[in-house]
Amino acid sequence: MHAPTDLYGRPRSDRLLRALVPVVAGYQRLSALSARRQPTVRAVDRDLVLSVRTVEAVAEGVVALRLARADGQPLPRWRPGCHLDVILPSGRRRQYSLCGDPLDRMTYRIAVRLVSDDGGSGEIHQLAAGATLTVRGPRNAFPFVDRGPYLFIAGGIGITPILPMVRMAARRGADWRLVYTGRSRESMPFLAELDALPTTDRVRVLASEDVPAVSDLLGDAVPGASVYCCGPGPMIDAVRREWTGPLHFERFSPAPVLGGAPFELQLGVGGPVVPVAADESALEALRRERPGTAYSCRQGFCGTCRVGVLAGTVEHHGAAVPDGSMLVCVSRAADERIVLDV
Ligand SMILES: Cc1cc2nc3c(=O)[nH]c(=O)nc-3n(C[C@H](O)[C@H](O)[C@H](O)COP(=O)(O)OP(=O)(O)OC[C@H]3O[C@@H](n4cnc5c(N)ncnc54)[C@H](O)[C@@H]3O)c2cc1C
Ligand code: FES
Repeated sequence: MHAPTDLYGRPRSDRLLRALVPVVAGYQRLSALSARRQPTVRAVDRDLVLSVRTVEAVAEGVVALRLARADGQPLPRWRPGCHLDVILPSGRRRQYSLCGDPLDRMTYRIAVRLVSDDGGSGEIHQLAAGATLTVRGPRNAFPFVDRGPYLFIAGGIGITPILPMVRMAARRGADWRLVYTGRSRESMPFLAELDALPTTDRVRVLASEDVPAVSDLLGDAVPGASVYCCGPGPMIDAVRREWTGPLHFERFSPAPVLGGAPFELQLGVGGPVVPVAADESALEALRRERPGTAYSCRQGFCGTCRVGVLAGTVEHHGAAVPDGSMLVCVSRAADERIVLDV
């Protein structure tokens, strides 16, 4: 690397720039080194057609699927916290966290709790080894920061994104604790895998029908800990209220609508008018009239529910969408009525 010529066009290099050259070169060397240690994982914005290698019951009502490429090629890299968008045989899309080992480049593992026989989880539970599934991703909405100490809190199926984080923290010799809660041990997936970790004294399992007190969830946090939490909405909300340190969390279902105002959706010019209550999303209201309306994450990040807006002003609530459209799972009307292009 050479120092550029003087800023004022004189043939001699500027003294300050000459001094900066070795600093910049050193920085470049360091960046290259750290990039080798930690490959950047970008969202893969294309479909992958995978075959289901195995289906295994891993707890009451929970199956784990291992997915692989039919051509035996390695899969795109992923980091703990990543999920796949799974396109189900019916065409519905649902998100499932990757819960295998990020070092395994040949298979992805997801685990799915049966929520409704008619829903996407019901479709997954019908799949058998040999079936083909199209997925998008991996995408990361729950990034794991490489800095401990950690307190992981998982409720039920919320263990799926947490398990690879625990594995990585254990592998790196970080200071970590896991509090894992569920209705009963039989309903909690991957207890045996947690038992097989070299440091099981760091795992506390709370199996009870009673909702755990937030002090039980946070009691194991050491000073300076970052909390990573995934589980039922009320559990996440309790931790958010109580924990003042760094907190990272992921919801599998939408947060309740708080502080919203009622408005109306008109379905096309001259079409039926659907009221949206203050405490519901436009998606919920729209699905009463049009039950087939597509949705997926219900949190404003997948884009499945995007519809055109013909008239009215929309508040997007943080969602990034092209002009003239809205995400009905999170966006609301700024005035009394919006007319949708549906
Ligand atoms: C990032 C992410 C990761 C996830 N990872 C996992 C995972 O690893 N494992 C796992 O089992 N699940 C995971 N989920 C949840 C999963 O994507 C599905 O939501 C779940 O399987 C239920 O889907 P379903 O189609 O069976 O149920 P649905 O029929 O979609 O119903 C699910 C629940 O939502 C309610 N509901 C239905 N429609 C609406 C609506 N329009 N508005 C509001 N509420 C509604 C229902 O009453 C029900 O309680 C994840 C979700 C996200 C966002
Ligand atoms: S359902 Fe994913 S953005 Fe609305």
